[in-house]
Amino acid sequence: MNAPVVAHTRAELQAGLRTVRRPGRHAVVLTMGALHDGHVALIRAARSQVGHEGSLAVTIFVNPLQFGADEDLARYPRSLESDLSICAREGVDLVFAPSEEELYPHGEPAVRVDPGVLGTVLEGAARPGHFAGVLTVVLKLLHLTEADVTFFGEKDYQQLVLVRRMIDDLDMDVLVLGVPIVRAADGLALSSRNARLTAVERNRATAMPRALDAASAESRRSGDVEAIRSRAIEVMAAEPLMKIDYVEVVDPDLGPVSGPGPARILLAVRVGGTRLLDNAPVVLGHTAW
Ligand code: PAJ
Repeated sequence: MNAPVVAHTRAELQAGLRTVRRPGRHAVVLTMGALHDGHVALIRAARSQVGHEGSLAVTIFVNPLQFGADEDLARYPRSLESDLSICAREGVDLVFAPSEEELYPHGEPAVRVDPGVLGTVLEGAARPGHFAGVLTVVLKLLHLTEADVTFFGEKDYQQLVLVRRMIDDLDMDVLVLGVPIVRAADGLALSSRNARLTAVERNRATAMPRALDAASAESRRSGDVEAIRSRAIEVMAAEPLMKIDYVEVVDPDLGPVSGPGPARILLAVRVGGTRLLDNAPVVLGHTAW
């Protein structure tokens, strides 16, 4: 596979887009780098969507706007060289890896995308301003890279829902597709934060996917929202090192559940100093089969 064109500035990006864009659709995968197999699943989904008549760009940018004052931006892993070799291996055409100054030339932007009430619940409650920071950079990057189609992981389910809402509410002409969560052999959802876990913590953290399995089983058994929640809490509460931030069952658009049908269970926990997220689909209100 050819190495991708690498652009660090807006001018290089524009020149790169002129080189790599083909008549077909142009897909863009947004990341903060430290690429793992979860990101690779998005890149592969993007390539299979646009084919070789289309083009594929990946952005790598650790966005300061979405980190809180108490969150360690400096500690976020950065590994551009290995990220570029993964992009080369996966046949990515263009990588845009701007500096902070390039993306925010006037410093912190005064105008940001307001995520509305959905930005204040779940992750938004724990991380004030986080989703305004996410949506602002997503909007900028989708504009700059001229995306026709973009891929987001279900791993960050609230982010995926909010990006869909932004694109709909702000009339952006971009197709958003969700990609299922990629997990390690022990069931833990892949995340760059997993590297911070000690071996013991990692073992304990597998209570999250086990809790989701128990919740799915309960969903098949009773379909009862409170029983599903309780099963998940029960599994995680048995782990001494795990502190539950929230366990919520919501409708697929993050609204309150209202009667039978598909829903989502979302978990956030802390293991040691590390905050971890996971989620899974459930079905409410049917009888056992
Ligand atoms: P980052 O955490 O690097 O994630 C980039 C994309 O990869 C997101 O859409 C995320 O949901 C997806 N992803 C991460 N781990 C995954 C897994 N185990 N399975 C499936 N998909 C996974 O999310 C961000 O960056 C940033 O907020 C960003 C959107 C780039 C804006 O700065």
